[in-house]
Amino acid sequence: MTTTLSPIDCAKLAVAERACTFIAAGMNVGLGTGSTAAFLVRRLGERVRSEGLDIVCVPTSAATAALAREEGIRLATLDDAGWLDLTVDGADEFDPAFNLIKGGGGALLQEKIVATASNRMIVIVDASKQVETLGAFPLPVEVLGFGMDATMALLGKVLETQDVDGRRIEPRRRDGKLFTTDEGNHVLDLHLKRIGNARDLALALNQIPGIVENGLFIGMCDTIILGNVDGTVETIMASKDQSEASSSDGAGSVRLAGAE
Ligand code: 5RP
Repeated sequence: MTTTLSPIDCAKLAVAERACTFIAAGMNVGLGTGSTAAFLVRRLGERVRSEGLDIVCVPTSAATAALAREEGIRLATLDDAGWLDLTVDGADEFDPAFNLIKGGGGALLQEKIVATASNRMIVIVDASKQVETLGAFPLPVEVLGFGMDATMALLGKVLETQDVDGRRIEPRRRDGKLFTTDEGNHVLDLHLKRIGNARDLALALNQIPGIVENGLFIGMCDTIILGNVDGTVETIMASKDQSEASSSDGAGSVRLAGAE
């Protein structure tokens, strides 16, 4: 039986396939969460079954863990795996400096912990995620249920000090109830419209005691694999990876960030 993929799913499949070329036997790999990361997990599962690819993976959510198990991928906890060679994950937005908004799927906490414990973070996205300035996508912030109203009040005050164009705070709901993360926390979506200084905002948010983590990933990603709906794929490397860019991915379109 053949399945016809939508153009956007073609782009997701193409970036997942490209990301797979960075993964080799013996690696410890962090697996992201979301629909794009799911294409990667399925593709890796195919490689495990057909080539016997010997890798150990650390999932970033219960959903990714379940899919990886179905695919026959060997899993470990982050503590058992130790340090990871790389993490591949999706994103909700990325800017020219490779800063990201993540957490649309509510897995930002584990995603950030796993990516931080990795030598490199590769982000796989379709072209709709590329922005000049972060903030059109509501910024997810994971908060404790304890004292959530007080946390929201404090957050409102902190946002008044920030270079943003919107300040609406919306508790995320699913099926009429507060959304609960894998860690038992909740998510606030911040409708900021434009984030003038993502680094300052990320630091300010994490000063609020009830905030567990925010969805800004600053300076963590070094490679973006960007897929277009026509199936073409571009690998964009942060410029510090210049030597690697020319050697690791010669088959496709590769450019350095900022280079025309
Ligand atoms: C989950 C995430 C996802 O990576 C992000 O939401 C992108 O998802 P998708 O690939 O489905 O667009 O951060 O917490």
